[in-house]
Amino acid sequence: MTQHNSKRMFIGGNWKMNGTREASTVLTTELVAAFEPLAASVDAAVFAPFPYLQHIGSIIRGSGLLLGAQQVSAEANGAFTGQVSAEMLLDVGVQIVIIGHSECRKLLAESDELIGEKVAIALSTGLSVMLCVGETWQERQSGQTEAVCRRQISAALKGIHLDHMGAIQIAYEPIWAIGTGRSASPEDAAISHAALRKDIEDLYDPSLAAATRILYGGSVNSANATSLFSQPEIQGALVGGASLKAADFASILRSASQATSSRPN
Ligand code: 13P
Repeated sequence: MTQHNSKRMFIGGNWKMNGTREASTVLTTELVAAFEPLAASVDAAVFAPFPYLQHIGSIIRGSGLLLGAQQVSAEANGAFTGQVSAEMLLDVGVQIVIIGHSECRKLLAESDELIGEKVAIALSTGLSVMLCVGETWQERQSGQTEAVCRRQISAALKGIHLDHMGAIQIAYEPIWAIGTGRSASPEDAAISHAALRKDIEDLYDPSLAAATRILYGGSVNSANATSLFSQPEIQGALVGGASLKAADFASILRSASQATSSRPN
């Protein structure tokens, strides 16, 4: 599997449970056009709801945009009503899947261990993984941010061999910043990213840690993207609300492209 070039930014649009087939078609068509001049300098994915994956996949084919899913089962197959396997995602053209999003951790009571199982099956099936970690406001206030992130990342990567790590990106998403309009400051985000990179170094080695892309997520928009990307520790963004508007997402993509070109090799 190819190793990430951590200088190159990655922008993901996590649509969550939003949109219709028609609205998603319009959004995706606009995104394909906006991404075209940027494809040489930025990586990007759209994480569409399950029912639209194949359709969105047919629109983005050949554009360089990656097709992402928002969730995957930890099981390979069988009597698991309502779940979708990694094999099925691969079968319909999905290339990357979000695992460990705080909304799933909370609403679906996903444990650290379950998230680790999902990461393992996704990777062994051939999917790339966007692994989300992040603390609550209360945890931040009580000085536990780094410990919480370390616990989450250690559990999620338990048993994952170094050779598979090139297919993993981390999204640091402080829960208090998600959907609140209150982004982490670029400096605070960079501190958490550096701590996560140190965790990866401790779990693996310094060169892998340096090569692993760590994205920020939580109220990223067209107004704050440039300042977030001014921090070299931030190698992209996982965008919720602002990814539903093509103009906003395109603006974030452009900020990422500019940040990439201004970073040293
Ligand atoms: P918002 O950008 O809407 O805060 O959502 C962030 C997120 O959860 C991305 O996965």
